[in-house]
Amino acid sequence: MKTTTHTLKEMKVSGKKITVLTAYDCPTARLLDESGVDIVLVGDSVGNVLLGYENTIPVTMDEMLHHTKAASRGVKNAMIIADMPFMSYQLSLESALYNASRFIKEAGAHGVKIEGDIYIDAIKKIIEAGIPVMGHLGLTPQLINQIGGYRVQGRNADEAKMIIEGAKKLEKAGCFSIVLEMVPSLLAQKVAKTLTIPVIGIGAGVDCDGQVLVTNDILGLSGKPVPRFVKKYADLYPEMKRAVSSFISDVKAGNFPGEEQSF
Ligand code: KIV
Repeated sequence: MKTTTHTLKEMKVSGKKITVLTAYDCPTARLLDESGVDIVLVGDSVGNVLLGYENTIPVTMDEMLHHTKAASRGVKNAMIIADMPFMSYQLSLESALYNASRFIKEAGAHGVKIEGDIYIDAIKKIIEAGIPVMGHLGLTPQLINQIGGYRVQGRNADEAKMIIEGAKKLEKAGCFSIVLEMVPSLLAQKVAKTLTIPVIGIGAGVDCDGQVLVTNDILGLSGKPVPRFVKKYADLYPEMKRAVSSFISDVKAGNFPGEEQSF
């Protein structure tokens, strides 16, 4: 079944959990889609996960479009959401709308994700034009220089209030869903209960309407430590390293190609 903003809302109402995973390329997106994930997120985490940047701040529109095009070619049923990169929605309402429209018209996405509730007019304008927007509150990595570190948000009463108010503001603006990143479980539970749109958690406890993680993290593809909120379902980096080392040894020893690989 195809995921739409409508089916996501139905899932929230009936209590069915929503699954979201990241993909930046066609085969990974195909794998997620074939496995039945509800939303494929082409996150700007591509910057630190794949492109070797320290964080998501340097990621450009061109890079996001390139990866969204690749991922969307692998998907049949999931909804494809593309992250609007840092500075693609802040400069003017017109450029925000134009950039959002490129993900839909050129890259095959069904909607976009925007961090924070500050640029609410840009969010409204994009939604008015018919482009579904997923909000993102709590830890917003594009503001890492301002926040000063990847730490839990909303621990004190003022911060918690701001997150709840921000979530209501995004719902009122017409967002079809929001991501809540690294917030205490009780706060996420409250937000999920307050909103009628699905709340997707990452490091936000079990009471959200769904969960999102970075695919490379759950598959153990980086060979580096993962954040505490990640559950690793496989540890593929050592396995891939073993395969690559075997190829090198085989070639050096003259054991590859063998008869079966030769003509
Ligand atoms: O960029 C990303 O992958 C994200 C998710 C981790 C929520 O924003």
